[in-house]
Amino acid sequence: MLLLDLDPQGNASTGLGIPKSERSPGTYEFLLGLAPLADCVRASQIPGLSVMPASVSLAGAEIELIDMERREHRLEDALAASDSDARQRWSIVLIDCPPSLGLVTLNALVAADAVLVPLQTEFLALEGIGAIANTVERIKKRLNPRLHIAGVILTMVDRRMTLSQQVEADVRQHFGDLVFGTTIPRNVRIAEAPSHGLPVLIYDNACAGSQAYILLASEFIRRRRTAAEAAQPEADHEPVP
Ligand SMILES: Nc1ncnc2c1ncn2[C@@H]1O[C@H](COP(=O)(O)OP(=O)(O)OP(=O)(O)O)[C@@H](O)[C@H]1O
Ligand SMILES: [Mg+2]
Repeated sequence: MLLLDLDPQGNASTGLGIPKSERSPGTYEFLLGLAPLADCVRASQIPGLSVMPASVSLAGAEIELIDMERREHRLEDALAASDSDARQRWSIVLIDCPPSLGLVTLNALVAADAVLVPLQTEFLALEGIGAIANTVERIKKRLNPRLHIAGVILTMVDRRMTLSQQVEADVRQHFGDLVFGTTIPRNVRIAEAPSHGLPVLIYDNACAGSQAYILLASEFIRRRRTAAEAAQPEADHEPVP
């Protein structure tokens, strides 16, 4: 798997222990065509996980992209370039997006097949996800017909709080099967892990947060397999007589 950190805050890069001094070349250079994929990707401490880190320069990309040709397609084009061949090399490319919808996020949504929406179970959560669903529909029509929401993941769930329970019930009622069965609890070990430059699964494998993320990963894999089978129903079944 390849993790592309497309958020100038670089939280994903921090969480994987990549020092600020070693984040360039990274997603900024790759997006703007200043460096090839091979120079921008690093190994991480996790076997099988490569990362392309984000440096603070990425904040400037928002402005620099405006005057560029195919400005919404830069990431898509860069990933598809023959010297990258990212789709051949990694079975999954996960893109961490910035929290706002600018040109950088747009590039991610044009390059992606699907969107995973992590949703904090708090007031206004439904509005937030409604806005994301509209954005995905608009991009699907105009720029990327493949795009769809692959799932909504409820996080920071606090089952002792009535509000959290209410939000979870509302989101499930509105979005049904799109919402992952697995939820991520509010867990202090998850909050501590990034300051140690470690993914929570390495920081504390046994904590409730890590256990939830392991279940989330299996649900993700299961859903992906089901979706792939649904996309080609005849491929591995005998015709019904
Ligand atoms: N389940 C959780 N329990 C407790 N703390 C959490 C949990 N998930 C994330 N955090 C903490 O909350 C902070 C923000 O998390 P994260 O960076 O994943 O959120 P984000 O929505 O991507 O933020 P941003 O919009 O800034 O990119 C981090 O310090 C993280 O450790
Ligand atoms: Mg983030």
